[in-house]
Amino acid sequence: MRIEPARRLRGRLSVPGDKSISHRAAIVAAMSSGGRARIDNFSTSADCASTLAALSQLGVSIRREAGAVVVFEGDAGRASSASRGLTRRLRAPSEPLDCGNSGSTMRMLAGLLAGQEFASVLTGDESLRARPMKRIIEPLELMGARLHSQDGRAPLRVEGRAPLDAVRYEMPVASAQVKSAILLAGLNAEGRTEVVEGETPTRDHTERMLRWLGARVETTTETRRKLNEDGIEERKVEGDVRGAASSVVSVEGMKSFEARDIDVPGDISSAAFLIAAAALLEGSELTLEGVGLNPTRTEILRTMRALGADVEASDVRLVCNEETGEVRIRGVRGNLAAGEAGVIDGALVAQLIDELPVLAVVGSQVEGGLRIRDASELRVKESDRIGATVENLRAMGAEVEEYADGLAVGGGARLRGARLRAHGDHRIAMAFTVAALIADGASELEGAECVAVSFPEFFRLLESVAER
Ligand code: S3P
Repeated sequence: MRIEPARRLRGRLSVPGDKSISHRAAIVAAMSSGGRARIDNFSTSADCASTLAALSQLGVSIRREAGAVVVFEGDAGRASSASRGLTRRLRAPSEPLDCGNSGSTMRMLAGLLAGQEFASVLTGDESLRARPMKRIIEPLELMGARLHSQDGRAPLRVEGRAPLDAVRYEMPVASAQVKSAILLAGLNAEGRTEVVEGETPTRDHTERMLRWLGARVETTTETRRKLNEDGIEERKVEGDVRGAASSVVSVEGMKSFEARDIDVPGDISSAAFLIAAAALLEGSELTLEGVGLNPTRTEILRTMRALGADVEASDVRLVCNEETGEVRIRGVRGNLAAGEAGVIDGALVAQLIDELPVLAVVGSQVEGGLRIRDASELRVKESDRIGATVENLRAMGAEVEEYADGLAVGGGARLRGARLRAHGDHRIAMAFTVAALIADGASELEGAECVAVSFPEFFRLLESVAER
């Protein structure tokens, strides 16, 4: 795709429904013990289509309507499962469940399938089959399911069991997908399942949605203490997270819940590309309506502001337990300076996980540049996002240093149009479309079609507000 630079973005638009919330809405509706759920503003992403297709293969009846998805109560074994306190019993699929490019689909469905009394196989495209799955295999096996993998990678064969055993599990990686898989499995476990997050709380959509449906989900904070051999608390050293508060999310199993309608807010991680582009193009005035503003997702707005961008959220209200509002951006490129915000590391990484590639592009325009550290998770996303970002920034003439766990980009770069590569990764494609809009001269983006994985309308919406 050829991308010409733009002068500015002007207008008002709404971004499509949030991908994270849509996956959860469909999965949780499929697990409900009765009723029908209409999910409005369901994500148009290919990833969420993978989730729906897999649920259909499991016997869940799903109807697509304009702008919505309706999940009907399944025919198989509803009454018997509800009377045992289990979630809806699904049908063993006759074929492997193809999760496409979607890590969320594979990891969260594994949590659902762990509590079903049949075996099923989860697979995906080449990228997904290369991504780490031990992070869900370990906790789901502790709960009593059996998972067979190819050395920790998909295809995954899940042999479920019901009921499962409740566990307390400390997550070694900060991952909302892992947390969600355990909580969904916990719905079919006897007793209370607890997930301990590190000092870094990840997005909490699963917890909020389950509460919306009446499931018993609690979030508390705990202080972690580490004792030495004599039972005396060890002294904290600098950078030590011991003694830091960690949040514990728990769910009471064997309490069935009824389906309920869900209205999905716009996807702030999709909005992030438009926000960044508008902030970088002097004279832009862009308003995004109906954007999800859940505090575990809005770090991108705070970071943009800290870098000097003019970004404001307003009209915030709670819709189905999720904050939703309007985001307004004005382009004032000359004011962008890193200051204290010039380093993204530690707990901030999980809060910005999907926005880091586009933030690296923003960083190239900020006085003082931007460093991203503690972000080795980026190497196991849909592509190696550190490698892909460094390669494309360099192709455009930016000064970049690469680390195993991040990168540093020099500020105030004059990007020049270049041949860019998406690496089959939607967020790399969109981040570098933003870079191409602010560059001198046109760029060519190889593999641009992969934006459909999360945001099929991206180029059309961008063109509708771009002025040249
Ligand atoms: C997601 C969580 C994040 C994120 C992904 C969606 C979710 O992954 O990168 O795009 O919906 O829970 P991890 O939690 O595995 O980092």
